[in-house]
Amino acid sequence: MNIILLGPPGAGKGTQASRLEAERGMVQLSTGDMLRAAVKAGTPTGVKAKAVMDSGQLVSDEIVSGIIGERLDMADTEVGAIFDGYPRTAAQAESLDTLLSDRGRKLDYVIEIQVDEEALVERITGRFTCANCGAGYHDSFKQPKVADTCDVCGHHEFKRRPDDNAETVRTRMAEYRAKTAPILPFYEARGLVRRVDGMADMAEVGAQIAAILDDKA
Ligand code: AP5
Repeated sequence: MNIILLGPPGAGKGTQASRLEAERGMVQLSTGDMLRAAVKAGTPTGVKAKAVMDSGQLVSDEIVSGIIGERLDMADTEVGAIFDGYPRTAAQAESLDTLLSDRGRKLDYVIEIQVDEEALVERITGRFTCANCGAGYHDSFKQPKVADTCDVCGHHEFKRRPDDNAETVRTRMAEYRAKTAPILPFYEARGLVRRVDGMADMAEVGAQIAAILDDKA
C-alpha cells in the first residue's frame, strides 16, 4: 500500500508517518527529513536547499522528485510507502504518478489531515528534539519526564529546527495554501482522498488513519 499524508506544516504528518512505520512496517518517505539530512551532510543538494528551507519556501520540484525517485529504487519501499511532505505541487503530484507507475506500483490513498492553522503555530514553534536520538518533545504538550534529559536515550542536548520560528511558519503555511492544497482536486477526481481530524489527540488521529487503511472508514 502506498499513501500520501497531506496537510499544512505541523498537521502531524511526521508524527503519524512514524506511527504507521512502527505499527505496519511501511516506510516513511519524508522529503523534509531527506533534505535536512542533505543539508547536514553538506551535499550539493543540501547546499542548494538550505537557504530555501530556512526561508520557508519550497525547494525545486526537480530536486525533491529526484530524491524520491532514488528512494523508491531501494527495495525496502516495496512493502509500502508513506509519502510525508511530498508531493507539494501539481508538478510533484504528476511526477509521483510516473515514479510509481514506472515501478509497477500505485497510490492507494491520499489522507488529508485537517487542522486549525492558528493552533499549528504553537505546535510548531514549541517543538524540539533530542540531539542524539531524535525523539520529539514540545514545550507545552510533551516535556521530558526528567528536566533536560531525553526519556528515550538519556541525552541532555536538544535542538530546534531553524525554520520553526513564527515568521517562517507563516510563509510555510502560505506556500501550503498556494501550492499544495490545490493538488487535492487532482486526487479527489480519482476517488483517492480521505480526511481525518488532525485536531484530535495523536492516538485518535492514528485510529482514524488505521480505519481508512483497514477499509473501515
Ligand atoms: P517538512 O519537514 O516536510 O515540514 P512541514 O511540512 O512544514 O511539516 P512539519 O514537519 O513541520 O510538520 P508535520 O505535519 O510533520 O507535523 P509533526 O508531526 O512534526 O518540510 C520542511 C521544508 O523542507 C519545507 O518548508 C520546504 O522548504 C522543504 N521541503 C520538504 N518537502 C518538500 C517538497 N516536497 N517540495 C519542496 N520543498 C520541500 O507535528 C508537529 C508538532 O505537533 C510536534 O511537536 C508533534 O508532537 C505535535 N503534534 C502532532 N500531532 C498532534 C496532535 N494530534 N495533537 C497535538 N500535538 C500534535
